[in-house]
Amino acid sequence: MKSINLNISFEQYASILELSENDRILCELSEQALASSYSPYSKFRVGTAIRLASGETVLGSNQENLAYPSGLCAERVALFTIGATYPNAVIQSMAITAQTDAFEILQPVTSCGGCLQVMVEFERKQNSPIEVIFYCLNGEVMKIPSVKSLLPFAFVEDRLTESKA
Ligand code: THU
Repeated sequence: MKSINLNISFEQYASILELSENDRILCELSEQALASSYSPYSKFRVGTAIRLASGETVLGSNQENLAYPSGLCAERVALFTIGATYPNAVIQSMAITAQTDAFEILQPVTSCGGCLQVMVEFERKQNSPIEVIFYCLNGEVMKIPSVKSLLPFAFVEDRLTESKA
């Protein structure tokens, strides 16, 4: 038996004012993306802004449906938009934020496992790290240097092929 520990390193900022200008702009864009959230059921708005290596930014927001599982998270809305419209794009970084009228969000809202799995796939496809910034509107910011560290046991495609070993 071996006991193994995995460590995650990330940066924590007291507010977006401490971020670089590029990261701050991306956070502000994720806040703007909240406006297009369609969330009549959860009343929980999520917005994301993704910066491509080309400098272009793509926004996304959560889109719900009366048949609940048919809705989609903000992150996947934006990532699949990129997959469909800029199939060869390289993603540099993404910022994610959330807001609800029901209570004050005091900590950054982190992405669900399904979104992390999709982020992992994009990171593997482009073979370079994607920075993830979780931005709390009235609070701190977490900056993670690579998606891989958020889901170290992601399902990856070599599990789908027969082992030749
Ligand atoms: N949601 C996201 O947009 N991203 C996540 O990573 C987790 C949750 C959305 C889905 C749903 O519309 C609402 O937040 C409440 O779960």
